[in-house]
Amino acid sequence: MQFRTGLGMILVVAMAATAGGQRMGMGPQGHGMGPGGPPGAFAPLPQEAASASNPLTEEKIQLGRRLFFDPRLSRAGDVSCNSCHDLSNYGVDGKPVSTGHAGQQGTRNSPTVYNSALHVAQFWDGRAPDVEEQAKGPVMNPVEMAMDSSAAVERRMRSTRFYREAFQAAFPGENEPVTFDNMARAIGAFERVLLTPSPWDRFLKGDRTVLTAEQHQGLMAFRHAGCAACHSGVGVGGGSFQRLGVAKAWPKTEDPGRFAVTGREQDRMVFKVPSLRNAEKTAPYFHDGSVATLEEAIRKMAEYQLNRPLSDRDVRNISSWLQALTGELPARRITPPQLPPLED
Ligand code: HEC
Ligand code: HEC
Repeated sequence: MQFRTGLGMILVVAMAATAGGQRMGMGPQGHGMGPGGPPGAFAPLPQEAASASNPLTEEKIQLGRRLFFDPRLSRAGDVSCNSCHDLSNYGVDGKPVSTGHAGQQGTRNSPTVYNSALHVAQFWDGRAPDVEEQAKGPVMNPVEMAMDSSAAVERRMRSTRFYREAFQAAFPGENEPVTFDNMARAIGAFERVLLTPSPWDRFLKGDRTVLTAEQHQGLMAFRHAGCAACHSGVGVGGGSFQRLGVAKAWPKTEDPGRFAVTGREQDRMVFKVPSLRNAEKTAPYFHDGSVATLEEAIRKMAEYQLNRPLSDRDVRNISSWLQALTGELPARRITPPQLPPLED
């Protein structure tokens, strides 16, 4: 199969990147548009994932960074957000499932926190609407950070002069700024600047020299196969919920996905479509962490979602194109902070 390259391909992408871009058709579960436009269209990253309900200030972002790295938000003082979302490692721990409090293992693969603030919802099953709400989950999750209560978290933060001052600066004018909700707001604000601009963004903004010939062909193969019906928008994913196993039943069904959130039969095995930004660096893959390599993940998708076997060459090209989605880590943001002393 010959794919058009050069100008032909450029026109397709240029059209799709504008708001009125062509529709590739929705997947079988297509729930509306994700951030970044209609299904099938791509869009470059914004500067930050702004939020009307949580305006970004430097004070809030800096506080969020400390909290993200601070193991004192865990029961035994040994697990931080960064333990499972290592920011120097593309926001993942690289394990099939994560290890949290007292060495306990969870049941799902930890997704990257980079660019996740742009997603339509958080978690594999979308049970939190945004990063602010999400941040409350792991702190209380008994197999993650295992704190007893939000009051216990607040006591720990209040016992430290550094945090009392930093919350005051981040939430000026509040009588008692050191709260569990403000902790989540600060962490959310920090995550909203964890974006990773990549060669793909330069391409979408018009620099057509960025992709290699192989990567161009990978993009064509990706669209031609129908991957962009689900993996589109600003995240090349992250914009909708879809069934895993559209064309063929996924072998593992213990985790029913979104069904556990909504209780609706049609949500069984439905998961949030992950963003493919940085996919090259976020192995292993899928909610169950069952696939070790990117090429194998691409093959599995073609088989289970599309019933359309891809040639080895297509798989290599798609994988090569996905490498253009590997972004630059925001070095200025992610230097591990000096953590405040335990009691002061
Ligand atoms: C013990 C490991 C562990 C710790 C600690 C942890 N996470 Fe996670 N995180 C996970 C796993 C596993 C998931 C997926 C869980 C699910 O979907 O049910 C996840 C999901 C997320 C997501 C959703 C991303 C997306 O694309 O949907 C965000 C954001 C996130 N975590 C941020 C945080 C923050 C902030 C903290 C600290 C307050 C934190 N995590 C602590 C393992 C961890
Ligand atoms: C019908 C919608 C749909 C189509 C079509 C689709 N995907 Fe997916 N993709 C998903 C969903 C849903 C997941 C997450 C499944 C899970 O782990 O629960 C996923 C996961 C992935 C992952 C793993 C990402 C990670 O971080 O774990 C890769 C890589 C991927 N898809 C690539 C592709 C490619 C390449 C194609 C085309 C050959 C494709 N997808 C077609 C919905 C789709």
